[in-house]
Amino acid sequence: MAFLRRASIAVALHIFLLTCQAWAKVEVTMEESVEVHVGGTVEIPCVFSMSEQPSTMMIQWFVKGGTSSQRERIFYSDDMMQIVDNGTDFTDRIMVSSVDERDEVVLTIHDVQLGDEREFICQVNGMSAGNGEGKTLLKVFDPPEAPVIEGVHHGISVSTPHPSKIASCEARNGYPRANITWYRNQTPLVPINGKMNVVTLQTRESSGLYTIQSELHYKVTKDDKDAVFYCEVSYAVPGAVGTAESKRINITVHYPTTVVELWKQSPEGLVKEGDTVEIRCRGDGNPPPPFTFNRKQQPDVELDSSLDLLVLQDVTRADSGIYQCRSLDLDTYAEAVGDLKLVIHYLDPAVVVPKDSEIMLKGESLTATCNALCSVETSTIWLKDGKQVGEGHELFLHDVSFDAAGEYVCEVTAPSLAGLQTSGSVLIIVQGAPEMKGSGSHAEMEENMEKWVNLSCEAQAHPKPSINWSITGTQNWHEASNRVTENSIHSTVTVQVTSDITASCNATNNMGTVTKSYSIKAIPLIASTAANTAVTVRVTPPRTIKKDGSGVIIIIIIVCILLLAILGSVLYFLYKKGKIPCGRSGKQEITKEKASKGDIVVEMKSDKTEEAVLLKGVNGDKKAHNDQ
Ligand SMILES: *[C@@H]1O[C@H](CO)[C@@H](O)[C@H](O)[C@H]1NC(C)=O
Ligand SMILES: *[C@@H]1O[C@H](CO)[C@@H](O)[C@H](O)[C@H]1NC(C)=O
Ligand SMILES: *[C@@H]1O[C@H](CO)[C@@H](O)[C@H](O)[C@H]1NC(C)=O
Ligand SMILES: *[C@@H]1O[C@H](CO)[C@@H](O)[C@H](O)[C@H]1NC(C)=O
Ligand SMILES: *[C@@H]1O[C@H](CO)[C@@H](O)[C@H](O)[C@H]1NC(C)=O
Ligand SMILES: *[C@@H]1O[C@H](CO)[C@@H](O)[C@H](O)[C@H]1NC(C)=O
Repeated sequence: MAFLRRASIAVALHIFLLTCQAWAKVEVTMEESVEVHVGGTVEIPCVFSMSEQPSTMMIQWFVKGGTSSQRERIFYSDDMMQIVDNGTDFTDRIMVSSVDERDEVVLTIHDVQLGDEREFICQVNGMSAGNGEGKTLLKVFDPPEAPVIEGVHHGISVSTPHPSKIASCEARNGYPRANITWYRNQTPLVPINGKMNVVTLQTRESSGLYTIQSELHYKVTKDDKDAVFYCEVSYAVPGAVGTAESKRINITVHYPTTVVELWKQSPEGLVKEGDTVEIRCRGDGNPPPPFTFNRKQQPDVELDSSLDLLVLQDVTRADSGIYQCRSLDLDTYAEAVGDLKLVIHYLDPAVVVPKDSEIMLKGESLTATCNALCSVETSTIWLKDGKQVGEGHELFLHDVSFDAAGEYVCEVTAPSLAGLQTSGSVLIIVQGAPEMKGSGSHAEMEENMEKWVNLSCEAQAHPKPSINWSITGTQNWHEASNRVTENSIHSTVTVQVTSDITASCNATNNMGTVTKSYSIKAIPLIASTAANTAVTVRVTPPRTIKKDGSGVIIIIIIVCILLLAILGSVLYFLYKKGKIPCGRSGKQEITKEKASKGDIVVEMKSDKTEEAVLLKGVNGDKKAHNDQ
């Protein structure tokens, strides 16, 4: 039993000792890694715990990795001192501080360098209380420069059998190494055998940074002519992934021509003779293949053209027809042909029937026609002396008069073809015996003696007439004017009225004669006075003489003289009876018996015209004052 007791004591002691030993231990806790940008400041914490209070404590920091595989101390501290080791990469850049109330120290590194990406070891030594250590990996990041893309400058043919390089992209100086992804439009490109692959080249610069170059090899299709390509660089940053995109590029895709199109570039609308026609050819391939032009009926005759343009100068209707443009693809030797039908419109000179001129007899009728050959509908108008006289290609001249003579111009236009116009003309000559112009073949007039009178005669005829005057009753006449035009003659004679005159003019040509006659009745001049009456009457000639008023004036004067004679007789009779005294001459005021109810005053003012003889009934009382 004693043995057992001893043995159990020994076991218990052993366990106690073991426990004691386990207690005298230091535990160091550190983060696995800490991340920081180059140039930044980083803190690496080191937390420790001890099973018993140490008499003295020593903390050291080491760095491992990089150029040497040995660990290198960079910091030392104990109860007495704190030393930053001389001559290490970190000598001027580190600081160690302890956090109060906790068993923790923090290593602070300033101005982190790319080479600082190493393991940092924190060693805690509590002497009898034991020791321990922990480590943290410092990860350093430096983003690359913006990616630079460069497309190939030549065109890429769709008929290239393998993927060909279309662009390269470079992201310089990044750490850690970045990745490059290619995009077409918005979609990332993934390598597909025979269609797309990427060749990546990575360079470690002396600075330790990486430069990544990536080449995109790609088999283009026609669709890619409108696509944009770019690269994206993705790189790690503390706690995240950063990206940057290059600028967009597009690529030149070469593809064969399968369809050729031909169109008229100018003029717009219908083409007429004389125009310059420009015909352009366009294929659906890239680059544009060489084109050749020909007319369909002459496939072997190549027309002169420059690149895609065929110019036809001063076209005629003979240039109408089908034009073709051909292209030959130099890769595939496939030929493509385009067609264009060209119509050249025309308007021929107008042909007028009758031609040039036509002689017609007065009263005849004629239908003139005007025709112009044209490829489109035309419209015709007829003009005479600048005025429109007809429409349509026929002109009817009915029962022609001398006025209908002249030049008739027909103008033919094609309304759908501005600028196309032609005209023709015919001269119509109307022949016939003369015709007097103006109304009547006989005129009668009365004129004062001695007066000069103009008589005129105007006749129209073709051939040109002549006018002969025959004047009887006066010797004093002469032709004052004689105007002759192509188809008319106008003659004026001036005659002096010395007695009654008969004048006639004959207008004569070889087709006949027409006569106009004038009769002029001479009005003798009045110079007589009535002197054998008691009253002197002064008759002055009328101030205004109406055209045929001289007869009326004479009648009125005669009536006046008669009235004065009667009046004179009455006055003489009254005078003889001694009723009235003699009055003033020139103005007579006569009053009858005062007893009579209404007096009659006859007043005559001889200086007035024939209308100035007044008979006026006035009140007798008023006259009574005037009387005395
Ligand atoms: C570190 O170097 C400086 C001079 O560069 C010297 O003064 C100092 O004593 C040295 N310290 C240690 C611990 O060697
Ligand atoms: C291609 O790029 C050129 C110049 O960079 C630009 O003028 C052109 O519009 C682009 N084409 C397409 C289809 O994006
Ligand atoms: C780069 O690509 C590799 C492999 O695909 C990937 O493991 C890594 O995470 C990528 N890095 C970034 C920063 O995207
Ligand atoms: C008569 O004719 C002449 C010439 O035409 C003209 O000078 C003259 O004034 C005319 N006389 C009259 C009265 O009309
Ligand atoms: C007109 O008179 C002239 C002479 O005055 C004469 O020579 C001519 O034959 C006459 N013409 C006609 C048509 O009578
Ligand atoms: C005019 O013609 C008539 C007949 O037509 C003729 O009798 C006359 O003598 C002519 N007078 C003149 C002046 O020619």
